[in-house]
Amino acid sequence: MSLSSPVAPSPAASSGDLIARYDANAPRYTSYPTAAQFTSAVGAEQWGGWLARAPLDQAVSLYLHIPFCKRLCWYCGCNTRAVNRESVIASYVDLLLAEADLVLKRIGRPVRVGSIHLGGGTPNMLAPADLERLFAGLAARFDLGHCFEIAAELDPEVLTPEWVEAAGRIGLSRASLGVQDLSPDVQAAVNRPERFETIRWAAEALRAQGLVSLNLDLMYGLPRQTVENVVTTLGLVTTLRPERIALFGYAHVPWMKPHQRLIKDADLPDAPARFLQSQAAARYLTSKGWTAIGLDHFALPHDGLAAAQRAGRLRRNFQGYTTDQAPVLIGLGVSSISRTPDGYVQNLSQERDWRAAVSAGGLPTARGVALSAHDAFVAAIIERLMCDFAVDVAEVAARLGCAADSVAGAWSLLARFVEDGLIEVDGRRLSVTPQGRPFVRAVCAAFDPTAVPAANRHARVV
Ligand SMILES: C[S@@+](CC[C@H](N)C(=O)[O-])C[C@H]1O[C@@H](n2cnc3c(N)ncnc32)[C@H](O)[C@@H]1O
Ligand code: SF4
Repeated sequence: MSLSSPVAPSPAASSGDLIARYDANAPRYTSYPTAAQFTSAVGAEQWGGWLARAPLDQAVSLYLHIPFCKRLCWYCGCNTRAVNRESVIASYVDLLLAEADLVLKRIGRPVRVGSIHLGGGTPNMLAPADLERLFAGLAARFDLGHCFEIAAELDPEVLTPEWVEAAGRIGLSRASLGVQDLSPDVQAAVNRPERFETIRWAAEALRAQGLVSLNLDLMYGLPRQTVENVVTTLGLVTTLRPERIALFGYAHVPWMKPHQRLIKDADLPDAPARFLQSQAAARYLTSKGWTAIGLDHFALPHDGLAAAQRAGRLRRNFQGYTTDQAPVLIGLGVSSISRTPDGYVQNLSQERDWRAAVSAGGLPTARGVALSAHDAFVAAIIERLMCDFAVDVAEVAARLGCAADSVAGAWSLLARFVEDGLIEVDGRRLSVTPQGRPFVRAVCAAFDPTAVPAANRHARVV
């Protein structure tokens, strides 16, 4: 069934009403099927088969996970741990290269790489010599001649001049600096002291070494955080004119990340307060010249992300919004996720298990999910909604050779969104209204047959 004529929005739907109605728990839809659907039914053997037949006509993307930090921030949802011993990190680099060898053996053909992303954790926990050794090792194994982007997530408080010089030598082109919030009160509530002067130094030093795109990660919804904290932080960091700003809503998932219990529930802003913080940030950034990208990113008009959005070529993957169009992603390291057109797999997420598997010469695959034709159809609908806030379901069905009616159940679930003015529907074309944008994950969930509105599974929508 489709909704052919939009129903008039209910005039009484204030943002408070909408939050009460739609602020359920939903995935962030960085993939579909989501990581929650991965199971051990897909393991190393199947992944080896998928690698052997992976399409290599386009360059692949590499993701390398560095699960080490100097200290643990209490809000952190990443797979990482506090480590001080350099030898632990150096041996991890050896094993990353050993894992690359295992993957290349299964692929059995030369592999061209288009982009490399170092994520974490904190990739600048690698000693500068280890960073260069890692890249020399990658260059000896992969064809990096077509690599157009080398990106890394960096903690400014751990960054050194020596690391920045090494970054210049490996050709780092994009960096994401973790900022979160610069108010001492909020920083104390999350165990993350950080000074604006350090961030300014990091931005200037990296740019002087050839960085072309600077991203800053900010957060809202942190303990003791207010609209004023968010706007004050933005006032400082926008003076650096970062090409991109990511504004993540704090995902409080203590059942998955027990250290988040160090954050007092009473200190957390409630859903309406979070909503006001995100809206104030969006107003501030758009008034200063950044374009809103998808759910939580902002980009200056000359940046590739803004250009991709204008061209309808914005993509979404495990790193969030991206310009990366590669059909094959090879993830190396603890908990990394990989993808081919056949499906997704994730590596073992305990470092000791991952080290043992790689040392024994086996692919360290823990779980995954095969992608059916219907999954690919739902994935394409959800990706367009997350990126463009609009999708023509009939067009996607025709492009992928699927029956548009196979998602017919979604339209009845979406009737209340139409009534509340969150979406407009014209035939099989759906667009999310400006008022509906904060709730786009709930719109996506209507197409997701696996969506379970379970409180203890995902973070809040807003
Ligand atoms: C790998 S860290 C960035 C680099 C470095 N480790 C740092 O913190 O400076 C990735 C980013 O994820 C975001 N993040 C971490 N935990 C989060 C959570 N629970 N909810 C939302 N965003 C989170 C933060 O903005 C953080 O900067
Ligand atoms: S936010 Fe960054 S520095 Fe803090 S614990 Fe997480 S990965 Fe480490």
